[in-house]
Amino acid sequence: MGWLQALTSLNPRPRFLPKNIHVPTTANMELNAPTRYAVVTGANKGIGLETVRQLAKAGATVVLTARNQERGTEATRLLHQSGLSNVVFHQLDVRDAESIQSLADFITAHFERLDILVNNAGASGVEVDEDGLRAKNIEPATWLAGKAVNLIQDVMKTTYETAKECIDTNYYGVKNVTEALLPLLQRSTLGARIVNVSSLRSELRRIPNEQIRQELGDIDTLTEDKIDRILQKFLHDLQHDAIEANGWQKMLPAYSISKATLNAYTRVLAKKYPNMCINCVHPGYVNTDINWHTGTMTVEEGAEGSVMLALLPEGGPTGCYFDRTQVAEF
Ligand SMILES: NC(=O)c1ccc[n+]([C@@H]2O[C@H](COP(=O)([O-])OP(=O)(O)OC[C@H]3O[C@@H](n4cnc5c(N)ncnc54)[C@H](OP(=O)(O)O)[C@@H]3O)[C@@H](O)[C@H]2O)c1
Repeated sequence: MGWLQALTSLNPRPRFLPKNIHVPTTANMELNAPTRYAVVTGANKGIGLETVRQLAKAGATVVLTARNQERGTEATRLLHQSGLSNVVFHQLDVRDAESIQSLADFITAHFERLDILVNNAGASGVEVDEDGLRAKNIEPATWLAGKAVNLIQDVMKTTYETAKECIDTNYYGVKNVTEALLPLLQRSTLGARIVNVSSLRSELRRIPNEQIRQELGDIDTLTEDKIDRILQKFLHDLQHDAIEANGWQKMLPAYSISKATLNAYTRVLAKKYPNMCINCVHPGYVNTDINWHTGTMTVEEGAEGSVMLALLPEGGPTGCYFDRTQVAEF
């Protein structure tokens, strides 16, 4: 039996729930096992929404979060309609400190602890002329091989503003949400799990600059300060038109460094909290809004890695990068 199958037999009965959450009991679920409380960010659509669905199906009580109240409420309503009443909505903009605190307060008040955090929200870091991009009809294999880079320069622009938004969402958003929820994760009686949704664009071998590759790859000397300095240097180089000259990735430069630093943060955090399983995952090349629907996989396939890592059994891997469900090289 695989990790995932083994863990989908958890009992969903809560100890303590807000009044409007109903948790179904399923015949094949083991009685008296405690409920897992989970948060998924950026979950109104795409891989995040599907991750909520799969975690809720596995019996977890899931807080579906979205920055937009209406989109989040509607997504939650649809899940309730499909029979998953163990999902509750709370607003969360990962770039907004007040919104993060409000989520932490909500979880403290209703659940007193958190078992699973899936940092899924993400931004692409580019401005795109979508019609122009579609007209180019680029093959998925060309995207995946990183060979589309010269084809897309006229339809995909990285500005200082789009890069800053991307880094603030994909790196600092994850860091700030995680720090706010860590006291609740430390109260998990089941062994907390943190899943950071990364990308194959994060892989160090794709960064031309050897010094950056080495700094981000050396877990013995990695620190959060060092990561901050790398991101500042990136933004400085972007402002001075020195991305290529200084060996940052030409393909989705802000997105790539935001995810490479996210992986580095995952390793720093895993070292600091050895009792938790803290991992990052490339979900696959999935058909969603973030890649203008160029992806080839379904959201069901895309959520598999996140769900597997969210439900890891005790003693499972930590501080690792997964390509979907397989451990891979950073
Ligand atoms: N699809 C792929 O092929 C692929 C490949 C590698 C990695 N990923 C990663 O997978 C994750 C999910 O992406 P997806 O493919 O499912 O794309 P998606 O459908 O575009 O979903 C992205 C989600 O992030 C949310 N978001 C963006 N900024 C936010 C913020 N400041 N606060 C809270 N939520 C925010 C979006 O909310 P709004 O609806 O309000 O914009 C949306 O719910 C991302 O981290 C992405 O980088 C995807």
